[in-house]
Amino acid sequence: MAEIRIRNTDERISGEDNVKAFLDKQEVLYEHWDAGKLPAALQNKFILSDEEKAQILATFEDEIKDLANRRGYLTWDIIALSDATPNLDELLKKFEQVHTHTEDEVRAITAGKGIFIIKGTDDVGYFDVELEAGDVISVPENKPHFFTLMDNRQIVAVRLFIETEGWIAHPFADPTFQKA
Ligand SMILES: [Fe+2]
Repeated sequence: MAEIRIRNTDERISGEDNVKAFLDKQEVLYEHWDAGKLPAALQNKFILSDEEKAQILATFEDEIKDLANRRGYLTWDIIALSDATPNLDELLKKFEQVHTHTEDEVRAITAGKGIFIIKGTDDVGYFDVELEAGDVISVPENKPHFFTLMDNRQIVAVRLFIETEGWIAHPFADPTFQKA
């Protein structure tokens, strides 16, 4: 289940209802899928064949289509990252810069963990959303954020897009942002 950490105060928010209420206020969509639907062999696998990716998409077909219909997403795929990913450190360095997109950034975690760091309203500032399998998040268009892995450095997620070009990152220069 997702957990929030507000960076300015180190306050943590946990429990599905509390997390959802906080993210609602920040205009970030948060939902939950039953990650247990995934065959056991795929629940802890981070190097995936095309067949296995297709199997994950098929497992969550109803959830994907429901979300896509409600939010206007038209295309989706699977991303898998782990220490087996070539140039993972370089990739993470590139990810770890605050940026925006011209469409929502949507991730449904199906295995592993990850964190979105999001610029909240002025009274809140930056906050982390720690995500694990079953957590679904949509960071709205034009909301500054970045994504990174947690200590286990493993994640599999479904990404949904309106058009994949919409996902191009536009750097958001913010002198007030402090890492960690
Ligand atoms: Fe992004």
